[in-house]
Amino acid sequence: MKTAVVTGAAQGLGQVTARKLAAAGYRVVLTDLQPVEAAAAAIGPATIAISGDVSDEAFVTDLAARIAKDCGGAQVLVNNAGISLIQPAEETSLDQWQQVMAVNLQGPFLLCRAFGRQMLAAGTGSIVNVASVAGLGGVIHRSAYNTSKHGLIGLTRTLAGEWGGRGVRVNAVCPGWIKTEMDVKDMGSGAYSDTDIVNRVPMARFAQPEDVAEGIAFLASDAAAFINGICLPVDGGWTGDISWDSLRLKTRA
Ligand SMILES: NC(=O)c1ccc[n+]([C@@H]2O[C@H](COP(=O)([O-])OP(=O)(O)OC[C@H]3O[C@@H](n4cnc5c(N)ncnc54)[C@H](O)[C@@H]3O)[C@@H](O)[C@H]2O)c1
Repeated sequence: MKTAVVTGAAQGLGQVTARKLAAAGYRVVLTDLQPVEAAAAAIGPATIAISGDVSDEAFVTDLAARIAKDCGGAQVLVNNAGISLIQPAEETSLDQWQQVMAVNLQGPFLLCRAFGRQMLAAGTGSIVNVASVAGLGGVIHRSAYNTSKHGLIGLTRTLAGEWGGRGVRVNAVCPGWIKTEMDVKDMGSGAYSDTDIVNRVPMARFAQPEDVAEGIAFLASDAAAFINGICLPVDGGWTGDISWDSLRLKTRA
C-alpha cells in the first residue's frame, strides 16, 4: 500500500485531500498543529494521525523517521498546512512576517527535504505543494502571505529540476479563494466579501475544497507521470482573466 502524507489535515482543504487520497487507495498520514485523530478516524482505518508543527525541524525529522519505520517511507507528500495574514505591509511586524514564512515556506522546505530524501533513495515519489493564486500575482495587504506563496512556487520549480531525473516529481496547485475556515476568518476581518470573490472569478463562485483536492490527487498520481514543476491554477479562470469587474459582469447570464 502506498503512503501519502498530508499536512494541515485537521480541517479544510487538507482534510478533504486526505479523504480523497484514502479513497484512491493510499494509507494516509494526517498531520496538523491541531489534534488530528478525529479527522483520521472519520476517514477510516488506513490512516495515521500525528500532531506537530511543520515549521519545527525536530518534529519533521521525527515524522519522517516514524513513517520510514512504520510504512517503509512515503510515496506522496502534500504540503498543505498554511496560515494567512491580512495586514498593510507598513504595519506588518517582523514577528508576523517570520511566522508566515515559517509555516508557509520553511515548513514545506523541511518536509520536502525529509521526505524527498526517502523518495530519492527509493527512486520514486510525488510532492504537491499547496500554493495559491496569491503565488502568481500580488494581492494588496498580503505581503507576507503572497511572498511565502511565491517562494513556495520557486521551491517547487527548483526541486522539480533537482530531483526529476531521480524519479521524484514536484508540482504545486494554485487555488483561488476556497470556502474554508481560513476564508471565514479572513472575511470576518471585513477585508472582503463573498461578492468580491464571486465577481472576480469567471466561473462566478468560490473553489470547493473538492475542486482543489482533485487537482492535488491528479498531480500526486501516476496519471501525471510526466508532469513535473508545474503550478496548476484551480481558480475558475481567475488568473487567466485580467478584465475589469464591470466588463466581466456584463458577460453573466
Ligand atoms: N482558503 C483559501 O481561500 C485558500 C486559497 C488558496 C490557497 N489556500 C491554501 O490552502 C492551504 C489550506 O488552507 P485552508 O483554506 O484549508 O485553511 P485552514 O485554516 O482551514 O486549514 C489550515 C490547516 O493548517 C494547520 N496549520 C497551521 N499552521 C500549522 C503548523 N505550523 N503546522 C501544522 N499545521 C498547521 C491548521 O491547524 C489547519 O488545520 C493553505 O496552505 C492555504 O494557504 C487557501
